[in-house]
Amino acid sequence: MDWNAIIEQTLHTTKANIARFEDRFPHVGNGNGKYQLVDHTDWTEGFWPGILWLSCEYGQDSYIREAAVRCTRSFQARLAEHKNLDHHDIGFLYSLSALAQWMVERDEAAKITALQAADALMRRWRPTLQLIQAWGPEHDPQNGGRIIIDCLMNLPLLCWATEQTGRSAYAEVARIHADKSLKFLVRGDASSYHTFYFDPESGDAVRGGTHQGFQDGSTWSRGQAWGIYGFALAYRYFKEPQYLDTAIRMARYFFDRLPDDHVAYWDFDVPPTALTPKDSSASAIAACGMLEIADQLSSDDPRRKFLLDAVRRSMVCMVEGYFTKGNPDEEGLLRHGSYFVRGGIAPDDFVIWGDYFFLEALMRLNNGRPGYWYEPKRSKTRE
Ligand code: GLY
Repeated sequence: MDWNAIIEQTLHTTKANIARFEDRFPHVGNGNGKYQLVDHTDWTEGFWPGILWLSCEYGQDSYIREAAVRCTRSFQARLAEHKNLDHHDIGFLYSLSALAQWMVERDEAAKITALQAADALMRRWRPTLQLIQAWGPEHDPQNGGRIIIDCLMNLPLLCWATEQTGRSAYAEVARIHADKSLKFLVRGDASSYHTFYFDPESGDAVRGGTHQGFQDGSTWSRGQAWGIYGFALAYRYFKEPQYLDTAIRMARYFFDRLPDDHVAYWDFDVPPTALTPKDSSASAIAACGMLEIADQLSSDDPRRKFLLDAVRRSMVCMVEGYFTKGNPDEEGLLRHGSYFVRGGIAPDDFVIWGDYFFLEALMRLNNGRPGYWYEPKRSKTRE
């Protein structure tokens, strides 16, 4: 497949969106081909600058670069005001905005913002419980001892902060949290809980559960994808074999349960019917995670071929059946994402993280650029 030509088509949509979105940020679709726009009220604002930085690096286009710089600047004010940051998703927000700008341009102010964001994430570390609290205030009876699998994607920001500052505490927290996630969120068959509850005072393990999945014991597809990618990134930083093994086993679980078009339903335990929503964003995240694993395996490792073949099949299906191909009437890149099916929020629509990870997967396949989760050295996944 000509990944280059597909990226060129994404650029038409992205350039049109710069004018359409102005200073606001796409969140999820409005059911009519457009995005609902938000302004530093959610966990999703980082994905738009992430798309802009990837596109800017690819095309060296000054119009896109100016938009990337402009919208990244607003993340400093959000941090200074601590606006809607009482959650763990600080990594999603700041890795793809300020940290991306530092990685692309070595902008010192952006680096300081990214380090301050890592400090803000560290404030969610609960030493007595030995975990990063996902949501809500400390000691909250419902959420005070709660972890969620998505948080694995926020840990690279901490690892990067250790690399930059020489202070080991950030990476130590990331490693303890990754270990806890592995032990409690990943089940024996490599399926996953979306969330796990610990007693907010004693730290005793209570139970696994879900927030956005079908039911408490089910495997929410996007959570599984966060696990694949999150453990692959943990392996990148820590070289702990258990992380690699877990990422691969979770990837096999994911790809063994895909329907004929290789794009996941929103939960692996929901009975599929003609009306069951897909979550293309889960498949885009899983594709990036599998490319990340493949990049760390030696070229003669048979698991690498399995992963690359699986990614290729899924990406070809997404390009042919889900991608908007530069259609001027559609603001998203990837159709049929699902945010929160049971809650009735964007159950079959664009979701901005789906667009981001779809583009990241295209970039990885095209030129090896692995997003902004770590500083790339060299890549083996280029085709
Ligand atoms: N991190 C929230 C979600 O995946 O919906």
